[in-house]
Amino acid sequence: MKNFDLESNREMWNEWAELHVNSEFYNVESFKKGRSSLYPIAVEEVGDVGGKSLLHLMCHFGKDTLSWARRGAKVTGIDFSDKAINIARSLAKGLELDAEFICSNLYDLPMNLDRQFDIVFTSAGVLCWLPDLEEWGRVIAQFLKSGGFFYILEGHPFLNMLLDEDPDASKPEILRSYFYTPEPEVYQSAASYAGVKTSKTHTGKEWTHSLGDIVNTLISAGLRIEFLREYPYIFFKAMPYMEQDSDGSWRIPGDKIPLIFTLKATKP
Ligand SMILES: C[S@@+](CC[C@H](N)C(=O)[O-])C[C@H]1O[C@@H](n2cnc3c(N)ncnc32)[C@H](O)[C@@H]1O
Repeated sequence: MKNFDLESNREMWNEWAELHVNSEFYNVESFKKGRSSLYPIAVEEVGDVGGKSLLHLMCHFGKDTLSWARRGAKVTGIDFSDKAINIARSLAKGLELDAEFICSNLYDLPMNLDRQFDIVFTSAGVLCWLPDLEEWGRVIAQFLKSGGFFYILEGHPFLNMLLDEDPDASKPEILRSYFYTPEPEVYQSAASYAGVKTSKTHTGKEWTHSLGDIVNTLISAGLRIEFLREYPYIFFKAMPYMEQDSDGSWRIPGDKIPLIFTLKATKP
């Protein structure tokens, strides 16, 4: 893989992790009392994880990882933010949940872990931080047992085209290309998506990956796609003009645009 500098992203995530754990958005108190942080469609589509080994890529401070542990999986979470991993470990300890957390850049994981898993899971805001999708596909394939599967629930790349900083935006507008470029979108950030202000301005770098690239990457890595599903709702208010459903999810009125996708792929 080419040499991409991800240090400014790591610094930003380190500060975000420490702020997120106390944020309303992440509501850790209700999680501690037993509430799962997993999206209902992920629980349904992944199915029974009892007794299965599960590797969670880019696990943030471990809420989803520990939610899978509560459902009976033997979990390992990895993230490149040491602050996030420390929080995840102390949450696991406090809740007396059996979980392993490893601090590693996703691309360095082959140097930091040498087991294979029944399930590799990742979700909600992960692909935009990855400059090299082919290497991502190879990492997933390497850590899956033969017969195991990969599952992702992610913001739809179509949505990435529309993301709007304008708090008064009133309708969808195409503001970015649908297609990947090796040059990231570079921006200055003084607050995270969870609505928390940071102590300093961070430089964020993001990439977009088309649905075709995501599917073809996994096929090239040797996986067999079981399904790819697109949904017209998302689990937070990504744009000011979204409306909330009775079940708490958010839609763009008219349901004309896919906002998340899910994909399951097995390793033969
Ligand atoms: C939006 S969060 C994932 C959120 C998670 N689904 C949740 O709701 O808790 C993205 C995570 O990716 C991690 N990350 C970003 N780039 C990474 C990389 N190259 N290697 C490993 N982790 C990375 C960040 O530290 C962050 O914790």
